[in-house]
Amino acid sequence: MSLQPTPAPHLDQRTLRDAFGAFPSGVVAVAASVKGQLTGIAASSFTSVSIDPPLVSFSIATSSSTWPALREAGHLGISVLADHHDAVCRQLAGPREQRFDGLPFKVTGNGAVLLDEAVATYDCSIHEEVVAGDHVIVLLEVHEVGAGDGEHPLVFHRSAFAKLHRDDLDPSRLDGRINGAEVDRGEAEHDEAKRDEHAA
Ligand SMILES: Cc1cc2nc3c(=O)[nH]c(=O)nc-3n(C[C@H](O)[C@H](O)[C@H](O)COP(=O)(O)O)c2cc1C
Repeated sequence: MSLQPTPAPHLDQRTLRDAFGAFPSGVVAVAASVKGQLTGIAASSFTSVSIDPPLVSFSIATSSSTWPALREAGHLGISVLADHHDAVCRQLAGPREQRFDGLPFKVTGNGAVLLDEAVATYDCSIHEEVVAGDHVIVLLEVHEVGAGDGEHPLVFHRSAFAKLHRDDLDPSRLDGRINGAEVDRGEAEHDEAKRDEHAA
């Protein structure tokens, strides 16, 4: 598989940014204590990659001034930001020396920094870095996951923050499996079972 860039002169950066921004995502904090220094960024490029082995990824700009330090961490903490974390997200993307000011977090024994009130947390180590154009795709091996104490995730869409409206989702439209794995229908299934119970 080749990651060689293909020149596309008809694609200007604005058009590309707009197209990329049409795809909604969550936002994570990628953070660690490196040589006693709190280090981290906000990233919307986080995604799950593999169940076995457990891998996730995010992409970091090659121009990042934080990545050279952060990649030296033995373990990286990933915290999925909650919908009330919009200001936290801006802070984590802002001036480096203020990124953790006033933030409640914990540092694990191996230096991963995990934010309080996140929707989920991952304690990871770097598995592989793949240079891809002006970003580096960072593959992370997941060692521990935490359920987090936040409820709903922050959504990033078209350069703005949004919230999920779960009422809009109709789980019955899924055929019950994605990529060969059962879909967790969670509360929807529970509600249906209760409805059937009442109807019987
Ligand atoms: C919502 C949001 C999402 C972001 N996602 C990414 C990302 O996926 N990758 C990235 O390199 N920077 C991302 N950034 C920018 C970084 O958080 C940070 O501002 C940037 O790395 C510049 O700081 P640095 O030079 O200290 O790395 C994002 C910023 C915001 C506000």
